[in-house]
Amino acid sequence: MIVTTAQLFTHAYGKYAVGAYNINNAEQAMGLFKGAISSKAPFIIQISKGARKYTDKKMLEAIIRAAADIFPEAIFAVHLDHGDEEACYDCIDSGFYSSVMIDASHESYEENVAISKRVTDRAHAKGISVEAELGMLGGVEEDIKVEEGNACLTDPDQAKDFVTKTGCDSLACAIGTSHGAFKFKGRQSLHFEVLEKIKARLPNYPLVMHGSSSVPKEEVDRINAAGGQIAGSMGVDVNEYLPAAKLGVTKINIDTDGRLVWTRVHREFFRDKPKEFDFRPPGKIFIEEYAKFIASRNVLLGSANQLDGLRKSLGK
Ligand code: G3H
Ligand code: 13P
Ligand code: ZN
Repeated sequence: MIVTTAQLFTHAYGKYAVGAYNINNAEQAMGLFKGAISSKAPFIIQISKGARKYTDKKMLEAIIRAAADIFPEAIFAVHLDHGDEEACYDCIDSGFYSSVMIDASHESYEENVAISKRVTDRAHAKGISVEAELGMLGGVEEDIKVEEGNACLTDPDQAKDFVTKTGCDSLACAIGTSHGAFKFKGRQSLHFEVLEKIKARLPNYPLVMHGSSSVPKEEVDRINAAGGQIAGSMGVDVNEYLPAAKLGVTKINIDTDGRLVWTRVHREFFRDKPKEFDFRPPGKIFIEEYAKFIASRNVLLGSANQLDGLRKSLGK
């Protein structure tokens, strides 16, 4: 069942975070649904502009519709990740997405407010939720690269003003994370003090954490042992997911870690079976490994075993 992110956040707020996982193809979709169902967790499917272009946006929609048929007990939102205004309108008008993210965080504050408000008004007219972003994460998002020096944490006073002026349903905040596999050189904590200040100004308001992959060392080591060359890096400490959720983070975005699972499975498979050229055996392994990964993350986010309670609260 497809619901809005706003519906998911009402149930999750202050208790747990909903995992938001990016998908690009059928194998990722299968793994995601399997893992969510085995851990009895609601979830958010994220589709980036790049994912919409990878095969065809209609192909991804068809895959998700099919997965929803195969797993009728699943409760999830379909969300555009890092949309610009044009992509948001395309998704709002598609009749398929239940949520969009307008990311105008690289614009001036006034422009960000104006664009995010336009998108919110148009989405709300169709009952679709909107996530907007304030502050700037480091790393690469699609075609936009933000150098570490230009990344800036969300200003809590501005956050309140932004939400009031735009009417957006959730706010992506910069609290020290960045996108991709190269987040921190040493151990680094989330900026909980910023989250606390935002929560004080925006009580009961759902916040979103991007760049939340943990970049597991054992995964990177296995990839490199199978021929990869991913330089050592650290991600977000998974033990900080739940404390962040208690401070109002209701959506935690994880993409890179899933890509690492894919890379490890395929590198190891073809290293161990150099004569193999059927892509289905490693694809099947990936689906199972990704499902296990999703289930393990849902436990850490606190979303595991929330499905029945959510269903009741939705009256379904
Ligand atoms: O924040 C970006 C997500 O990880 C999606 O990545 O734009 O390469 O699909 P992508
Ligand atoms: P990661 O690169 O840390 O997985 O973040 C993904 C993300 O924020 C997608 O919007
Ligand atoms: Zn992101």
